[in-house]
Amino acid sequence: MNILLTGGLGFIGSHTAVVLASEGHSVVIVDNLCNSQQQTLGNLELITGKKLPFYEGDVRDVDLLKKILRDHQIECVIHFAGLKSVAESGADPLKYFDNNVSGSIVLIEAMQAEGVKKLIFSSSATVYGVPQYLPYDEEHPLAPMNVYGRTKLQVEEILQDLSKSDPDWSIVCLRYFNPIGAHESGLIGELPQGIPNNLMPYICQVVSGKLPHLNVFGDDYDTKDGTGERDYIHVMDLAEGHAAALAFTNHHQGWEAINLGTGFPYSVYDLISAFEKSAKQSIPKVVKERRSGDLPIYYAKADKAKNLLNWQGKRDLQSMCDSSWNYQDQLTRVPK
Ligand SMILES: NC(=O)c1ccc[n+]([C@@H]2O[C@H](COP(=O)([O-])OP(=O)(O)OC[C@H]3O[C@@H](n4cnc5c(N)ncnc54)[C@H](O)[C@@H]3O)[C@@H](O)[C@H]2O)c1
Repeated sequence: MNILLTGGLGFIGSHTAVVLASEGHSVVIVDNLCNSQQQTLGNLELITGKKLPFYEGDVRDVDLLKKILRDHQIECVIHFAGLKSVAESGADPLKYFDNNVSGSIVLIEAMQAEGVKKLIFSSSATVYGVPQYLPYDEEHPLAPMNVYGRTKLQVEEILQDLSKSDPDWSIVCLRYFNPIGAHESGLIGELPQGIPNNLMPYICQVVSGKLPHLNVFGDDYDTKDGTGERDYIHVMDLAEGHAAALAFTNHHQGWEAINLGTGFPYSVYDLISAFEKSAKQSIPKVVKERRSGDLPIYYAKADKAKNLLNWQGKRDLQSMCDSSWNYQDQLTRVPK
């Protein structure tokens, strides 16, 4: 199929591009590079051995999107383009509503105009909010605790209404849990700008000497070792989940929300120990107060993805850490 990836040079989009290209799909990328680098395109072409058409542009540019959809006879769009910092979304909500919600509306308008009616949307487990029960299944009440999560929920709702208005649409909202890891080549991975918000890129910057130590926010939660527990998922598993969702859209009409997680929570200390094993060095850490807005534990019920998409995460925590370390190690030696 001819697939457009918005935000396809970012962390999850780039790994998905590799999986889709290796399955024989024609991948086209549009990205405004606000949180990625054009060099990633060269690395994608090295890994896949294919030339991938790339447009530096914004999803809020309706004319550009229509032209890309037309020129490449796009059949399905995977919409990764979005801003993802919870902290920044609270400080600058309009920026987030504009980019994530208005950007999605413009994309949908362009798709509607060009008759492209298959869409896979990058949603997030943050749509669930404080767990009423765990694991979160897709029927769990939706009550995001921050602006970022509300932008994701709003887009999900817009898409649901759209699918009700026109049954020709096939829309899959994938609710990601906590993607980490990197492609086995070490050529692509998570490349955050500035000080990272998430645990794994932060650990990577500590081992590379850019940051002095890791802050562990709270070791007195009611969890197995007192630190927060999350459902970490290997980014290559996540990428394969998109390929499975793409196949699903071929025989599906309507709207579905599907969790992409492993169903197994790991603690901050589990992740640190596994990473220390990968990097063969210890990670300096300082225990700090809990951060407001952090949940003690959450993880996915992963059955719907297994049943509908015939997909489940298969790589373990050590493989996630080994691949992140391999990427970080190469990055430190050869700046990409
Ligand atoms: N990484 C996670 O932990 C996580 C978890 C849940 C959901 N998500 C969602 O998945 C998607 C991809 O996440 P990621 O981790 O790959 O993030 P990322 O920042 O690495 O990738 C997003 C890409 O989109 C591009 N982009 C942003 N706004 C754009 C716009 N208006 N026009 C064109 N390009 C634009 C950025 O330059 C970047 O390359 C995002 O929508 C994010 O909210 C991510």
